[in-house]
Amino acid sequence: MTRCYTMLLLFMIPGILLPQDQDLLAVYPRPSQSLNGEWRVIVDPYENGFYSYRYEPFENAENPPRGAYFTNSKPRNKSDLIEYDFDSSEILNVPGDWNSQDEKLFYYEGTVWYKKSFDYQKKGPQNRVFVYFGAVNYQADVYLNGQKVGRHTGGFTPFNFEITDLLREKDNFLILKVDNKRLREGVPTLNTDWWNYGGITRDVKLVETPPVFIRNYFVRLAPESRNKIRAEVALGGEGGAGEAVTVKIPGLKIEETMTAGENGMAAFYLPAKDLKKWTPESPRLYDITLIAGQDTVRDRVGFRTIATRGQDILLNGKPVFLRGICIHEESPLHGGRATNEADARKLLGWAKDLGCNYVRLAHYPHNEYMLRMADEMGVMVWGEIPVYWTIDWENEKTYQNAESQLTAMIERDRNRAAVVIWSMANETPNSDARLRFMRRLAQRARTLDGTRLISAALEQSRVAGPGDVRTISDPFAEDVDVLSFNQYIGWYEGLPEKCRQVTWQISQDKPVLISEFGAGAKQGFHGDALTRWSEEYQADLYRQTLEMLSQIPQLRGLSPWILVDFRSPRRSLPGIQDGWNRKGLISEDGQRKQAFGVLQAFYQKK
Ligand code: GCU
Repeated sequence: MTRCYTMLLLFMIPGILLPQDQDLLAVYPRPSQSLNGEWRVIVDPYENGFYSYRYEPFENAENPPRGAYFTNSKPRNKSDLIEYDFDSSEILNVPGDWNSQDEKLFYYEGTVWYKKSFDYQKKGPQNRVFVYFGAVNYQADVYLNGQKVGRHTGGFTPFNFEITDLLREKDNFLILKVDNKRLREGVPTLNTDWWNYGGITRDVKLVETPPVFIRNYFVRLAPESRNKIRAEVALGGEGGAGEAVTVKIPGLKIEETMTAGENGMAAFYLPAKDLKKWTPESPRLYDITLIAGQDTVRDRVGFRTIATRGQDILLNGKPVFLRGICIHEESPLHGGRATNEADARKLLGWAKDLGCNYVRLAHYPHNEYMLRMADEMGVMVWGEIPVYWTIDWENEKTYQNAESQLTAMIERDRNRAAVVIWSMANETPNSDARLRFMRRLAQRARTLDGTRLISAALEQSRVAGPGDVRTISDPFAEDVDVLSFNQYIGWYEGLPEKCRQVTWQISQDKPVLISEFGAGAKQGFHGDALTRWSEEYQADLYRQTLEMLSQIPQLRGLSPWILVDFRSPRRSLPGIQDGWNRKGLISEDGQRKQAFGVLQAFYQKK
């Protein structure tokens, strides 16, 4: 009989689930009705379907006029004036960005309206129904049957709204106003080095739950006691308090039941006897079943520990070297945003061919298939929010946006053993306001999940004095568990031979993980090692950089920039870039470059 402690004991320990709003988060492990497929769309650059000609939002009116697109109105007779019609408008596939589906929308930044009609038969009269979106870039206004259900901002994290009271059995129409305009106060802000893919870029599902349901859970090895599993289950809906909650892990012969407390939370300590730890070499996952009243959620979870000790990163207590590569969320199979399991298998499969046990998912939370596939394939993950470059640090709304994206990423992915690092930012210019902003984010991350390492791509600089000595001068280095930075000596700074003149002096007694280095090469373009854009130049830069970085005593990992060439409007050199960032080790059509073999050989010796 396993003992489980009362939940009060657990509240003092960081990383416990917090009573949040009634947001249904455990969606992928649940049965659902998919709304993927063909949606009708209206491109609306002047937002004519949202604002009156006096620029007042139609939805603020007591009775929005039929000219508001979210009413999905039709002419009442042959004389009636309606100047739009979803059902004879163009079609886009969901999930998917609009840029890669329709060449008229390749560079489009603005509003596109989406409409999906569906019938729905509830399975239980008292049940609740939610509409779930894996991600919509960048801002989504959601309407069902002409009623506003909510607005979400942030292009890479899941969200859902309850639609129980608006749903009918027949002819529902779900309408979204999707706006991917870049904003100074946005997260990310106006300037990025990736394509601003707009649209409903991930899955859309209808999820039905009993009146009391499992809203969220966190199951992992207890940080404070290695041979115990800590499982917290948060219930949503009325009457969660006092509900019996059961956790089953058949592979460990665990079945334990307890009663949810006043705030609908149940927290267990469970014996982890004979548990096989998750490792990249042996990514053991256990089936878990969570039951609360009439609700059941099944998932597959790996158990491992990740920590630092001085300059070492410890996986399950043993020093590990992170043999990594950076990845953007672009599909080598169909172009545009990666959206499905096949994309995830392809990208992570290429990383494993390279010899990787780790990937940096840049620069934003990737789709859930990538995280679940990393669990299965044994690839550790650096997860990141798009706090990128020159964010509006003094703007509280910008901070709240960043924090809500961080929260959504952690709450979605903290049951994935593969995730070992949460990154707060990438290459952000140092200032007091930026430091305050990032410290708040790091604190939030540690509150939500005390079991993982915190990092960010920090600022590095040259030390005054003789020789060319570099160091990490970023004050946020004090707050992170792992010191990471991007460096481009030999590409943006001098030629590859410059690597031989540079030494690194890093004073902090922490592990160092180089989060980026690289060079551009057009696959199939050859020349000598000094010919910019040749595969030979890129391969030589890799050789010289790896030699230079290997001199850093605290070096415990690398994620060179980047696995595959990716689209960027910043990269316009005709005949070489043509709108692609060419720092990939593989071209956008899957052809390896010479540097792939250089890094692969280096990792084979690690
Ligand atoms: C930066 C940045 C990347 C960018 C890369 C490049 O370090 O983090 O997002 O794509 O350099 O210049 O190619």
